[in-house]
Amino acid sequence: MKEIKIGILGFGTVGAGVVEGFQKNGALMAERTGITPVVAKIADLDITTDRGITVPEGVLTTDAMSVITDPSIDLVVELVGGTSVARQFTLEALKQGKPVITANKALLADHGEEIYKTARDNNTGIYYEAAVGGGIPILRAQRAGLIGNQIESIYGILNGTCNYILTRMEREGLPFDEILADAQALGYAETPPDLDIDGIDTAHKAVVLASMAYGAPVPMDACPTKGVRGLSASEIVNADELGYRVKLLAIIKDNAGEVELSVEPAMVPKSHMIASVSDSFNAVFVKGDIVDDTMYYGRGAGRLPTGSAVIGDIMEAASDKLVGKGAPVSVTMMLQKDALNYCSADNIEKRCYVRLCLEDKPGAMAQVMTIFGKHNISIASVVQKELHESGCAPVVILTQTAKESEFVAAMDEIAALDVSCMEPIRMRLEDFE
Ligand code: HSE
Repeated sequence: MKEIKIGILGFGTVGAGVVEGFQKNGALMAERTGITPVVAKIADLDITTDRGITVPEGVLTTDAMSVITDPSIDLVVELVGGTSVARQFTLEALKQGKPVITANKALLADHGEEIYKTARDNNTGIYYEAAVGGGIPILRAQRAGLIGNQIESIYGILNGTCNYILTRMEREGLPFDEILADAQALGYAETPPDLDIDGIDTAHKAVVLASMAYGAPVPMDACPTKGVRGLSASEIVNADELGYRVKLLAIIKDNAGEVELSVEPAMVPKSHMIASVSDSFNAVFVKGDIVDDTMYYGRGAGRLPTGSAVIGDIMEAASDKLVGKGAPVSVTMMLQKDALNYCSADNIEKRCYVRLCLEDKPGAMAQVMTIFGKHNISIASVVQKELHESGCAPVVILTQTAKESEFVAAMDEIAALDVSCMEPIRMRLEDFE
């Protein structure tokens, strides 16, 4: 039996989950792989708070660099979070030829190219399954199971916090802030949670998925991002009445050699499986040109699910190291090309849901319809509800597919109409066709 000595940097939610996972199933892992995992060092600035697990004396330290440089440590697990110190620790460990396992999607999204190249140049590995989809082994599926496919599209629910909030808003009609506090207490949310709510955490994960799908580092500014902050309960209620649900989606598509990439709230048909993904669960739909549709589902956040993904990477890195394979596929796949071509946001075609509030005046609706017609936007359905006490009528429109640039222009013109009582609200309607 071989032994692998693990150094963990960061003893927060996920770090504690990793240690708990090893304590529970380490012997099983050793039986299965012939490698005994030993958590030899854990570094954190706070080594006194109770994490609900006991570690042997001498394992905890406040000096992360001493763990990285300790010659007896075979591989380093970066769970510090953030992109500053985490980048420094990761690069230093890679330069020493030590494989690094990380759950840090922000680090990869912001500094991925530098990190992948440093791993490759030092003939070692960077492993990041836990960075996308929590406990779902989606990257392993992509880089192993789907290796023979051109990836046509990926749709992901990638943020447990947002999905949890949307689910409870729909089911219980509770206010946003109250649900967010629960998500924080459950250990789903980032610090600060703005990263979740504004869609940035989802975008971090989307660029990692897109990099792996298309073989080049993807910068964050290639991913137009909108989160769920300020989402009104009206959209959730209207979606429900129309047979849809609101989900925060990462959308990645190959449009004839150009990559379409975005993160945005979207209405999805209740009959589609993605609409059934609720609470903190994540799901990723990948369509390959050979395999056709595939779906991956599981817990996207939390101590043990994310710990499970980190442990999977640790055992893979241990095996790669003992076999001495050099830079693994998780590195080489990200560096096949220097850069990708992206669809201009203006040219992206989509269906939309639009909510307006119109004054009760003859011809108000006709003015709106004229603007849609002028911009080549065909209407799929219109519902006008009874007037508010204010004298304005809520109008809900579902469109057919049209260009984003035409939607933007049409919304500006509708907002400027005298009969328009509020800023129009628009959301993507995704029927996966
Ligand atoms: N804050 C993230 C989420 C944690 O809510 O999904 C997992 O990346």
